[in-house]
Amino acid sequence: MSKLRLGVNIDHVATVRNARGGNTPDPTRAAILAQDAGADGITAHLREDRRHIGDADIESLMDALTVPLNFEMAATDEMQKIALRHKPHAVCIVPEKREERTTEGGLEVAREENQLAHFIAPLRDAGCRVSIFIAADQRQIEAAHRIGAQVIELHTGAYCDAHAEGDFEKRDVELEKMRAMSTFAYDLGLEVHAGHGLTYDCVKPVAAFPEVMELNIGHFLIGESIFRGLAPAMAEMRRLMDEARAHQVQQSQ
Ligand code: PXP
Repeated sequence: MSKLRLGVNIDHVATVRNARGGNTPDPTRAAILAQDAGADGITAHLREDRRHIGDADIESLMDALTVPLNFEMAATDEMQKIALRHKPHAVCIVPEKREERTTEGGLEVAREENQLAHFIAPLRDAGCRVSIFIAADQRQIEAAHRIGAQVIELHTGAYCDAHAEGDFEKRDVELEKMRAMSTFAYDLGLEVHAGHGLTYDCVKPVAAFPEVMELNIGHFLIGESIFRGLAPAMAEMRRLMDEARAHQVQQSQ
């Protein structure tokens, strides 16, 4: 089983910075700290409304990082141009609505198949790994595969929300869907990532899926770093991820 990678999403360092409109706290400084503390990658979402990460942040992350940048963006011409200018290691295509507080659902790939296939082709040609943020839904995964994405990121939000709300029946249904769909995607040859809403309390069952290669975690880690510092907050997440993985290996022997 492959090592599970931890991608740290630093969007919410920018949220705090932008609340005052100045330069601090600096998301790139947080990204370097996360990198030095063992992050396998950094994720940043340049939203169309620039509510957290800004264009200059992407520029400075590209200059400063030695670990891969996973650049999250909507499928728009503007974002495609920016991605082609920077050529980050990975581009994760996410749905975006201005009125939402965060990325609420997975991308509707099946309905937009032709458009998305054309959209991602130049990104792939430029050497970016194209990832699609997607619900645990077989139709969407098949469509992501058909359009030529190399990676899918499963949206863990519904599972995490159900866990937080104490709706354990729904949580387990969501978990089983993700388990089945991570196997399905892996068998198609897709690399499987997961993320959104993950916390210490709910990360382990997802980390235990053998097909999942990377978790992208932001809001909880940045919040927790207020209390413990970013490196210790990450170390605890890493410990839980590794524990879940080790347990999985024991079970499969
Ligand atoms: N993965 C994707 C594709 C996302 O859009 C987000 C949120 O920006 C995350 C992971 C991280 O989610 P969270 O901040 O809730 O950990």
